[in-house]
Amino acid sequence: MSDHLLLMAGNLEKHLGLLQDNCTVHRWYNADDRDALLDEIGDKIRVVGTNGHVGIPADVMQRLPHLEMIGCFGVGYDAIDVDVARQRRIAVTNTPDVLNDAVAELAQGLMIALARQIPQSHKFVRDGQWLQGDFPLTTELSGKTVGIVGLGRIGKELARRLQAMKMRVVYHGRSQQAHEPYEYFADIVSMAAEVDWLVLCLPGGNDAQHIVSEEVLAALGSEGYLVNVARGVVVDEAALCRAITNGQIAGAALDVFVEEPKVPTELLTADNVVLSPHAASATTKTRVAMGELVIRNILAHLNDRPLLTRVV
Ligand code: DGY
Repeated sequence: MSDHLLLMAGNLEKHLGLLQDNCTVHRWYNADDRDALLDEIGDKIRVVGTNGHVGIPADVMQRLPHLEMIGCFGVGYDAIDVDVARQRRIAVTNTPDVLNDAVAELAQGLMIALARQIPQSHKFVRDGQWLQGDFPLTTELSGKTVGIVGLGRIGKELARRLQAMKMRVVYHGRSQQAHEPYEYFADIVSMAAEVDWLVLCLPGGNDAQHIVSEEVLAALGSEGYLVNVARGVVVDEAALCRAITNGQIAGAALDVFVEEPKVPTELLTADNVVLSPHAASATTKTRVAMGELVIRNILAHLNDRPLLTRVV
Protein backbone atom coordinates (compact mmCIF):
# COMPACT_ATOMS: atom_id res chain seq x y z
CA MET A 1 0.00 0.00 0.00
CA SER A 2 2.29 2.75 -1.20
CA ASP A 3 -0.27 5.40 -2.13
CA HIS A 4 -1.70 7.91 0.28
CA LEU A 5 -5.04 9.71 -0.01
CA LEU A 6 -6.01 12.79 1.98
CA LEU A 7 -9.72 13.26 2.67
CA MET A 8 -10.76 16.90 3.02
CA ALA A 9 -14.45 16.09 3.67
CA GLY A 10 -16.50 13.13 4.83
CA ASN A 11 -18.61 12.54 1.70
CA LEU A 12 -16.40 9.76 0.39
CA GLU A 13 -16.29 7.70 3.59
CA LYS A 14 -19.06 5.35 2.46
CA HIS A 15 -17.30 4.68 -0.83
CA LEU A 16 -13.79 3.98 0.38
CA GLY A 17 -14.40 0.22 0.19
CA LEU A 18 -14.20 0.60 -3.59
CA LEU A 19 -10.55 1.55 -3.27
CA GLN A 20 -9.92 -2.06 -2.20
CA ASP A 21 -6.84 -1.30 -0.14
CA ASN A 22 -5.26 0.60 -3.00
CA CYS A 23 -4.17 3.35 -0.64
CA THR A 24 -3.87 4.51 2.92
CA VAL A 25 -6.50 7.11 3.81
CA HIS A 26 -5.68 10.11 6.00
CA ARG A 27 -8.46 12.34 7.29
CA TRP A 28 -7.84 16.09 7.33
CA TYR A 29 -11.48 16.98 7.92
CA ASN A 30 -11.71 15.38 11.36
CA ALA A 31 -8.05 15.51 12.45
CA ASP A 32 -7.56 16.93 15.96
CA ASP A 33 -4.40 18.64 14.84
CA ARG A 34 -4.47 19.31 11.08
CA ASP A 35 -1.06 20.96 11.17
CA ALA A 36 0.55 17.94 12.78
CA LEU A 37 -1.19 15.63 10.31
CA LEU A 38 0.17 17.59 7.34
CA ASP A 39 3.65 17.67 8.92
CA GLU A 40 3.52 13.91 9.27
CA ILE A 41 2.04 12.81 5.94
CA GLY A 42 2.04 15.88 3.65
CA ASP A 43 4.90 14.71 1.46
CA LYS A 44 3.37 11.23 1.00
CA ILE A 45 0.02 12.41 -0.38
CA ARG A 46 -0.57 11.76 -4.10
CA VAL A 47 -4.33 12.09 -4.16
CA VAL A 48 -6.87 14.33 -2.42
CA GLY A 49 -10.59 13.58 -2.12
CA THR A 50 -12.73 16.62 -1.36
CA ASN A 51 -16.10 18.21 -2.06
CA GLY A 52 -17.18 21.36 -3.85
CA HIS A 53 -17.68 23.29 -0.61
CA VAL A 54 -14.37 22.57 1.15
CA GLY A 55 -12.23 22.22 -1.98
CA ILE A 56 -8.63 22.46 -0.91
CA PRO A 57 -7.34 25.54 0.90
CA ALA A 58 -4.21 27.06 -0.69
CA ASP A 59 -2.09 26.50 2.43
CA VAL A 60 -2.99 22.79 2.46
CA MET A 61 -2.22 22.40 -1.24
CA GLN A 62 1.18 24.02 -0.67
CA ARG A 63 2.03 21.40 1.92
CA LEU A 64 1.41 18.51 -0.48
CA PRO A 65 4.49 18.66 -2.73
CA HIS A 66 3.79 15.33 -4.45
CA LEU A 67 0.09 15.88 -5.05
CA GLU A 68 -0.96 14.52 -8.46
CA MET A 69 -4.74 14.48 -8.43
CA ILE A 70 -7.76 16.04 -6.69
CA GLY A 71 -11.07 14.18 -6.93
CA CYS A 72 -13.97 16.54 -6.23
CA PHE A 73 -17.30 15.16 -5.01
CA GLY A 74 -19.57 17.65 -6.80
CA VAL A 75 -19.95 19.17 -10.23
CA GLY A 76 -18.80 22.57 -8.93
CA TYR A 77 -15.07 22.79 -8.24
CA ASP A 78 -14.83 26.52 -7.60
CA ALA A 79 -13.28 25.92 -4.15
CA ILE A 80 -10.21 24.43 -5.86
CA ASP A 81 -7.61 26.82 -7.28
CA VAL A 82 -7.46 25.36 -10.77
CA ASP A 83 -4.79 27.84 -11.91
CA VAL A 84 -2.41 26.52 -9.26
CA ALA A 85 -3.45 22.96 -10.12
CA ARG A 86 -2.63 23.62 -13.80
CA GLN A 87 0.73 25.17 -12.96
CA ARG A 88 1.63 22.20 -10.78
CA ARG A 89 0.21 19.69 -13.28
CA ILE A 90 -2.25 18.39 -10.71
CA ALA A 91 -5.28 16.75 -12.34
CA VAL A 92 -8.75 17.73 -11.07
CA THR A 93 -11.92 15.67 -11.59
CA ASN A 94 -15.55 16.48 -10.75
CA THR A 95 -18.89 14.62 -10.88
CA PRO A 96 -20.91 15.92 -13.83
CA ASP A 97 -24.07 14.36 -15.31
CA VAL A 98 -24.83 11.94 -12.47
CA LEU A 99 -26.53 14.75 -10.55
CA ASN A 100 -28.44 16.48 -13.37
CA ASP A 101 -31.77 14.87 -12.55
CA ALA A 102 -31.58 15.49 -8.81
CA VAL A 103 -30.56 19.15 -9.17
CA ALA A 104 -33.14 19.87 -11.90
CA GLU A 105 -35.79 18.15 -9.82
CA LEU A 106 -35.06 20.28 -6.74
CA ALA A 107 -35.05 23.45 -8.85
CA GLN A 108 -38.50 22.51 -10.17
CA GLY A 109 -39.65 21.68 -6.66
CA LEU A 110 -38.44 25.03 -5.32
CA MET A 111 -40.23 26.85 -8.13
CA ILE A 112 -43.51 25.07 -7.45
CA ALA A 113 -43.11 25.54 -3.69
CA LEU A 114 -42.51 29.27 -4.14
CA ALA A 115 -45.26 29.85 -6.71
CA ARG A 116 -47.91 27.79 -4.95
CA GLN A 117 -46.71 28.72 -1.43
CA ILE A 118 -46.48 25.09 -0.38
CA PRO A 119 -44.53 25.72 2.88
CA GLN A 120 -47.03 28.42 3.88
CA SER A 121 -50.09 26.37 3.00
CA HIS A 122 -48.70 23.35 4.87
CA LYS A 123 -48.34 25.55 7.95
CA PHE A 124 -51.79 27.02 7.34
CA VAL A 125 -53.42 23.58 7.52
CA ARG A 126 -51.28 22.37 10.44
CA ASP A 127 -51.99 25.49 12.49
CA GLY A 128 -55.74 25.05 12.06
CA GLN A 129 -56.09 28.33 10.14
CA TRP A 130 -58.10 26.58 7.41
CA LEU A 131 -60.96 26.28 9.90
CA GLN A 132 -61.18 30.07 9.83
CA GLY A 133 -61.20 30.49 6.04
CA ASP A 134 -59.47 29.72 2.76
CA PHE A 135 -55.79 30.13 1.98
CA PRO A 136 -55.13 33.15 -0.30
CA LEU A 137 -54.89 32.49 -4.05
CA THR A 138 -51.40 31.87 -5.43
CA THR A 139 -49.68 32.03 -8.81
CA GLU A 140 -48.82 29.19 -11.21
CA LEU A 141 -45.92 28.38 -13.51
CA SER A 142 -47.84 27.36 -16.65
CA GLY A 143 -47.72 30.04 -19.31
CA LYS A 144 -44.91 31.97 -17.62
CA THR A 145 -41.47 32.72 -19.04
CA VAL A 146 -38.38 31.36 -17.31
CA GLY A 147 -34.87 32.64 -17.98
CA ILE A 148 -32.18 30.08 -17.23
CA VAL A 149 -28.75 31.50 -16.46
CA GLY A 150 -26.25 28.82 -17.47
CA LEU A 151 -27.59 26.39 -20.05
CA GLY A 152 -25.14 23.62 -19.23
CA ARG A 153 -25.97 20.01 -18.45
CA ILE A 154 -28.20 20.89 -15.48
CA GLY A 155 -29.70 23.94 -17.18
CA LYS A 156 -30.69 21.84 -20.20
CA GLU A 157 -32.26 19.15 -18.02
CA LEU A 158 -34.25 21.83 -16.22
CA ALA A 159 -35.24 23.54 -19.49
CA ARG A 160 -36.79 20.30 -20.81
CA ARG A 161 -38.72 19.81 -17.58
CA LEU A 162 -39.99 23.39 -17.49
CA GLN A 163 -41.14 23.18 -21.09
CA ALA A 164 -43.12 20.10 -20.10
CA MET A 165 -44.68 22.30 -17.42
CA LYS A 166 -45.83 24.65 -20.22
CA MET A 167 -43.33 27.41 -19.51
CA ARG A 168 -41.56 29.41 -22.21
CA VAL A 169 -37.81 28.94 -21.76
CA VAL A 170 -35.13 31.50 -22.64
CA TYR A 171 -31.51 31.56 -21.50
CA HIS A 172 -28.40 33.60 -20.86
CA GLY A 173 -24.85 32.29 -20.90
CA ARG A 174 -21.38 33.13 -22.12
CA SER A 175 -22.32 32.25 -25.68
CA GLN A 176 -25.31 31.28 -27.77
CA GLN A 177 -25.81 27.57 -28.37
CA ALA A 178 -27.10 27.54 -31.92
CA HIS A 179 -28.50 24.01 -31.74
CA GLU A 180 -30.68 24.78 -28.70
CA PRO A 181 -34.30 25.71 -29.41
CA TYR A 182 -34.57 28.41 -26.73
CA GLU A 183 -34.21 32.16 -27.30
CA TYR A 184 -30.80 33.47 -26.24
CA PHE A 185 -30.10 36.73 -24.42
CA ALA A 186 -26.52 37.96 -24.51
CA ASP A 187 -27.40 40.47 -21.80
CA ILE A 188 -28.68 39.18 -18.45
CA VAL A 189 -30.36 42.49 -17.53
CA SER A 190 -32.45 42.43 -20.72
CA MET A 191 -33.38 38.82 -20.04
CA ALA A 192 -34.34 39.58 -16.41
CA ALA A 193 -36.65 42.35 -17.67
CA GLU A 194 -38.36 39.87 -20.02
CA VAL A 195 -38.93 36.89 -17.71
CA ASP A 196 -41.19 35.98 -14.80
CA TRP A 197 -38.64 33.57 -13.33
CA LEU A 198 -34.85 33.78 -13.28
CA VAL A 199 -33.20 30.44 -12.45
CA LEU A 200 -29.47 30.20 -11.80
CA CYS A 201 -27.73 27.01 -12.96
CA LEU A 202 -24.32 28.42 -13.84
CA PRO A 203 -20.98 27.25 -12.42
CA GLY A 204 -19.51 29.30 -9.55
CA GLY A 205 -16.04 30.83 -9.61
CA ASN A 206 -14.66 34.33 -9.98
CA ASP A 207 -16.24 35.01 -13.38
CA ALA A 208 -19.71 34.41 -12.01
CA GLN A 209 -19.41 36.49 -8.82
CA HIS A 210 -22.47 38.77 -8.41
CA ILE A 211 -23.71 38.05 -11.91
CA VAL A 212 -27.12 38.70 -10.37
CA SER A 213 -26.54 42.29 -9.34
CA GLU A 214 -28.83 44.97 -7.95
CA GLU A 215 -29.51 45.99 -11.57
CA VAL A 216 -30.55 42.46 -12.55
CA LEU A 217 -32.89 42.25 -9.55
CA ALA A 218 -34.40 45.63 -10.42
CA ALA A 219 -34.97 44.42 -13.98
CA LEU A 220 -36.61 41.20 -12.72
CA GLY A 221 -39.04 43.48 -10.91
CA SER A 222 -41.81 43.19 -8.38
CA GLU A 223 -43.57 40.35 -10.26
CA GLY A 224 -40.37 38.36 -10.80
CA TYR A 225 -39.00 35.37 -8.89
CA LEU A 226 -35.38 34.29 -8.41
CA VAL A 227 -34.24 30.67 -7.95
CA ASN A 228 -30.62 29.78 -7.13
CA VAL A 229 -29.31 26.19 -7.28
CA ALA A 230 -25.82 27.32 -8.39
CA ARG A 231 -23.60 29.02 -5.79
CA GLY A 232 -24.38 31.75 -3.24
CA VAL A 233 -21.73 34.11 -4.61
CA VAL A 234 -23.35 34.38 -8.03
CA VAL A 235 -25.95 36.64 -6.41
CA ASP A 236 -25.22 39.95 -4.68
CA GLU A 237 -26.79 38.62 -1.48
CA ALA A 238 -26.98 42.01 0.25
CA ALA A 239 -28.87 43.40 -2.77
CA LEU A 240 -31.13 40.32 -2.73
CA CYS A 241 -31.94 40.87 0.96
CA ARG A 242 -32.92 44.47 0.18
CA ALA A 243 -34.96 43.41 -2.85
CA ILE A 244 -36.84 40.82 -0.79
CA THR A 245 -37.43 43.19 2.12
CA ASN A 246 -38.57 46.07 -0.12
CA GLY A 247 -40.75 43.97 -2.42
CA GLN A 248 -38.49 44.86 -5.34
CA ILE A 249 -38.86 41.21 -6.48
CA ALA A 250 -41.81 38.90 -5.79
CA GLY A 251 -39.82 36.17 -4.08
CA ALA A 252 -36.84 33.84 -4.07
CA ALA A 253 -36.16 30.12 -3.66
CA LEU A 254 -32.59 29.47 -2.59
CA ASP A 255 -30.56 26.29 -2.14
CA VAL A 256 -27.21 28.07 -1.81
CA PHE A 257 -25.87 31.00 0.20
CA VAL A 258 -22.69 33.03 0.44
CA GLU A 259 -21.67 31.88 3.93
CA GLU A 260 -23.31 28.47 4.18
CA PRO A 261 -24.65 27.22 6.52
CA LYS A 262 -25.29 30.78 7.72
CA VAL A 263 -28.28 32.44 6.07
CA PRO A 264 -28.97 36.20 6.34
CA THR A 265 -31.77 37.08 8.76
CA GLU A 266 -33.71 38.94 6.05
CA LEU A 267 -33.99 35.69 4.10
CA LEU A 268 -34.75 33.56 7.17
CA THR A 269 -37.67 35.73 8.16
CA ALA A 270 -39.23 36.76 4.83
CA ASP A 271 -42.58 35.21 3.86
CA ASN A 272 -41.82 35.23 0.15
CA VAL A 273 -38.67 33.07 0.40
CA VAL A 274 -38.29 29.28 0.25
CA LEU A 275 -35.03 27.96 1.69
CA SER A 276 -33.18 24.69 1.18
CA PRO A 277 -29.88 23.58 2.81
CA HIS A 278 -27.69 23.16 -0.30
CA ALA A 279 -29.46 19.90 -0.99
CA ALA A 280 -29.99 19.91 -4.75
CA SER A 281 -27.90 16.78 -5.31
CA ALA A 282 -28.64 15.32 -1.88
CA THR A 283 -30.55 12.16 -2.69
CA THR A 284 -29.24 8.74 -1.74
CA LYS A 285 -29.11 7.58 -5.36
CA THR A 286 -27.28 10.64 -6.65
CA ARG A 287 -24.81 10.86 -3.76
CA VAL A 288 -23.90 7.17 -4.29
CA ALA A 289 -23.35 7.81 -8.00
CA MET A 290 -21.22 10.89 -7.20
CA GLY A 291 -19.11 8.99 -4.64
CA GLU A 292 -18.56 6.08 -7.02
CA LEU A 293 -17.51 8.44 -9.79
CA VAL A 294 -14.92 10.13 -7.56
CA ILE A 295 -13.48 6.75 -6.57
CA ARG A 296 -13.45 5.50 -10.17
CA ASN A 297 -11.44 8.59 -11.10
CA ILE A 298 -9.03 8.02 -8.23
CA LEU A 299 -8.56 4.37 -9.20
CA ALA A 300 -8.02 5.37 -12.82
CA HIS A 301 -5.30 7.77 -11.70
CA LEU A 302 -3.63 5.24 -9.41
CA ASN A 303 -3.65 2.68 -12.22
CA ASP A 304 -2.37 5.07 -14.90
CA ARG A 305 -5.61 4.96 -16.85
CA PRO A 306 -7.33 8.02 -18.39
CA LEU A 307 -9.49 9.95 -15.94
CA LEU A 308 -13.22 9.71 -16.54
CA THR A 309 -14.33 13.26 -15.80
CA ARG A 310 -11.28 15.48 -15.80
CA VAL A 311 -11.70 19.25 -15.65
CA VAL A 312 -8.00 20.18 -15.35
C1 DGY B 1 -22.20 20.41 -6.71
O1 DGY B 1 -22.19 19.31 -7.25
O2 DGY B 1 -21.43 21.32 -7.00
C2 DGY B 1 -23.18 20.58 -5.63
O3 DGY B 1 -23.23 21.88 -5.17
C3 DGY B 1 -22.85 19.60 -4.54
O4 DGY B 1 -23.96 19.34 -3.84
